[in-house]
Amino acid sequence: MTEPLIALKHLQKRFGKQTVLADVSLTVAGGEILGLIGPSGAGKSTVIKTALGMEVADGGSAAVLNTQMPNRQLLGRIGYMAQDDALYEALSAEENLRFFGRMKGVAKADMATEIAHVAAVVDLTPDLKKAVSGYSGGMKRRLSLAIALLGDPELLILDEPTVGIDPALRRKIWGELHKLRDAGRGILITTHVMDEAELVDDVALLLGGKVMAYGAPSMLEAQYDVQTIEQVFLKAEGVA
Ligand SMILES: Nc1ncnc2c1ncn2[C@@H]1O[C@H](COP(=O)(O)OP(=O)(O)OP(=O)(O)O)[C@@H](O)[C@H]1O
Ligand SMILES: [Mg+2]
Repeated sequence: MTEPLIALKHLQKRFGKQTVLADVSLTVAGGEILGLIGPSGAGKSTVIKTALGMEVADGGSAAVLNTQMPNRQLLGRIGYMAQDDALYEALSAEENLRFFGRMKGVAKADMATEIAHVAAVVDLTPDLKKAVSGYSGGMKRRLSLAIALLGDPELLILDEPTVGIDPALRRKIWGELHKLRDAGRGILITTHVMDEAELVDDVALLLGGKVMAYGAPSMLEAQYDVQTIEQVFLKAEGVA
């Protein structure tokens, strides 16, 4: 069996006196989409940042691409989309894509094709020459996603990638994510859109610093005796 792309074991993270992650274990294998869900403030972004070594864990271990994190060398092989857009506002979208493409080691000869491809996936082709400062919130999200997709990384880590994105384009983006998954890429994605949580292979529900439910959507729905992941979420939270 091949090693998972992400392996978090009993991860713990505190901020001051607040324990945000008490015990988080999860894995993402190649050819798998793991959806990380949980209420706002549950620690989803903290899981991602700790996995990537952007936050230092207080306990447990985080291995990404078989390497103990943090490790700078790896970042070129990971398509990471943060929850907050980190874009160069004064530059055009195309210039942003070229800059990040270079950082990720996209070959010069492939750059134009790569940029055209990722821009098409997020429907930004007509707006590539516009300065990012003139972009709407949803356009910035789409550009951040395009940047994460650059260079066809083996692992995608996407923190709320579809915020501010219309249903039709969201569907198209999920089509692309499934294509990448079928081509063997691993994807860790957080979302607040509960019907998106039906489109993943496994769901991990983060609650009270722990993974309270973990498995295929259909399995969790059966386990909680409900019809949708939204109902699993509400039942686990004790709301329903
Ligand atoms: N750098 C930090 N310093 C102090 N507290 C932090 C820091 N980062 C996160 N926290 C706290 O950790 C908790 C979890 O935050 P996190 O951003 O991981 O939640 P989340 O599940 O991603 O929420 P959302 O769905 O709103 O994005 C929150 O209470 C937050 O205030
Ligand atoms: Mg978050």
